[in-house]
Amino acid sequence: MTPPRDIAGSMNNLARSVSNSLNLSTSPNLSFHSPPSSFRQPPSGSFLDGRHGSVPANSHASQLAKQLKPFDTKDIKVLLLENVNDAGVKILTDQGYQVEAIKASLPEDQLIEKIRDVQVIGIRSKTKLTKKVLDEAKNLIVIGCFCIGTNQVDLQTAAQRGIAVFNSPFSNSRSVAELVIAEIIALARQLADRSMELHNGTWNKVSKGCWEIRGKTLGIVGYGHIGSQLSVLAESMGMDVIYYDVLTMMGLGTARQVSSLDALLEQADFVSLHVPATADTKNLIGASEFAKMKDGSYLINNARGTVIDIPALIEASRSGKIAGAAIDVFPDEPAGNGDYFSNDLNAWTKDLVGLKNIILTPHIGGSTEEAQSAIGIEVSTALVRYVNEGTTLGAVNLPEVNLRGLTLEEPNSMRVVYIHKNVPGVLRQVNGILLDHNIAKQMSDSRGEVAYLMADISSVKESEIRDIFQSLEELSSCIRTRVLY
Ligand SMILES: NC(=O)c1ccc[n+]([C@@H]2O[C@H](COP(=O)([O-])OP(=O)(O)OC[C@H]3O[C@@H](n4cnc5c(N)ncnc54)[C@H](O)[C@@H]3O)[C@@H](O)[C@H]2O)c1
Repeated sequence: MTPPRDIAGSMNNLARSVSNSLNLSTSPNLSFHSPPSSFRQPPSGSFLDGRHGSVPANSHASQLAKQLKPFDTKDIKVLLLENVNDAGVKILTDQGYQVEAIKASLPEDQLIEKIRDVQVIGIRSKTKLTKKVLDEAKNLIVIGCFCIGTNQVDLQTAAQRGIAVFNSPFSNSRSVAELVIAEIIALARQLADRSMELHNGTWNKVSKGCWEIRGKTLGIVGYGHIGSQLSVLAESMGMDVIYYDVLTMMGLGTARQVSSLDALLEQADFVSLHVPATADTKNLIGASEFAKMKDGSYLINNARGTVIDIPALIEASRSGKIAGAAIDVFPDEPAGNGDYFSNDLNAWTKDLVGLKNIILTPHIGGSTEEAQSAIGIEVSTALVRYVNEGTTLGAVNLPEVNLRGLTLEEPNSMRVVYIHKNVPGVLRQVNGILLDHNIAKQMSDSRGEVAYLMADISSVKESEIRDIFQSLEELSSCIRTRVLY
């Protein structure tokens, strides 16, 4: 553990970090991309929103934005299951869609009955949208998963039917980052042990081995949505931040990237893990990595349970190599709440719970009211954009395609969305159908067997829309056609 330092010392380090990060950013050998934040779905009207082609609210442009609607569908019917957050429901009802919101999930037969009738369905993790269910969903154009995961949906079948699927993987990034800050302080002050002792009637006032976090080094492994948020928060509390990521990235503030995991482990007083669960990250921190960490340092895992080799953690804690750890995620986690955290679940549980200064939490990193509301807003916004504009930004099963919005200054214009089999010659056929009109803008992309084309066409008479729609529908490559005007 780095001993307490005065502010002047920290300022020198700050200056050094700045020059390091400048060196990094001017290296011609390194490529950069901006640190991610919730860029995929910025709030409506934000600057980033404009970058994605929509228009900022209250601007001149937004007053001129043309509200598109499907030419062949009078009402958009939406079925929301599993108690979708109110903020999300409101966004959909405000659009004038017919929304039926049900608190529970539905048994399969009732689900099939209801799904036949709707264009949009919103679910959380309990509703299974299997091939059998999707086969009945003849009118469905889009699925919103108001949660992080999408395992409950047959994504491939949905793509093959031209049904877009959206989720909200990053709405809880801030919640996780804040929890990590709390854990850093709690570990440095042995807070959980003191609290537990007092709950059991023991007054144990100690300062030995308790630290301020100011001037200590935080090492972030995985500088994505959560890692980069954490970086900003930690720095504002006077920590020096270093990070390691497989991608080369521009650090926020004075945070600087280090070239290897080993370099990070050797320098950090606190190591916090924010990588995805992949084959590469399985047991990313095991016995040899613990050996490289500083004596008396701390480890925090709010990423995924497979990332740490827990028996190695138990050993590192017992030997005093690490002074504490906070673990929010486990290789095996119970499906519901109850007294399931035992050796039956993970063979080492009893050893883990007996250790000093180990904070254990039941996968609550992202579980806040704010995150739930943000999920509601993010997914509903994506659904509205898809229904009204055909934009697939953030879709998990279709290529991401977007065009800047049509405006009222383009009165005789319409938008064609053509979801089709990814086979040669389709663009030629589609453009043959659109030939007599001016294609103002067009974008197309493919993902596996399915391709997605968007085109804005001007100088179209309303009477011609149906012909264009039908000609596209008759192409052998057609999965689904939508015309918005
Ligand atoms: N505890 C919770 O409740 C909770 C909530 C949300 C997310 N999570 C988990 O947190 C983790 C991070 O989420 P995120 O939204 O920041 O993800 P993200 O995709 O935005 O960022 C992950 C970063 O890790 C990097 N990375 C991938 N493999 C790496 C490796 N081997 N070494 C170093 N860096 C590597 C990627 O390049 C990326 O920058 C995920 O595992 C996610 O499932 C947990």
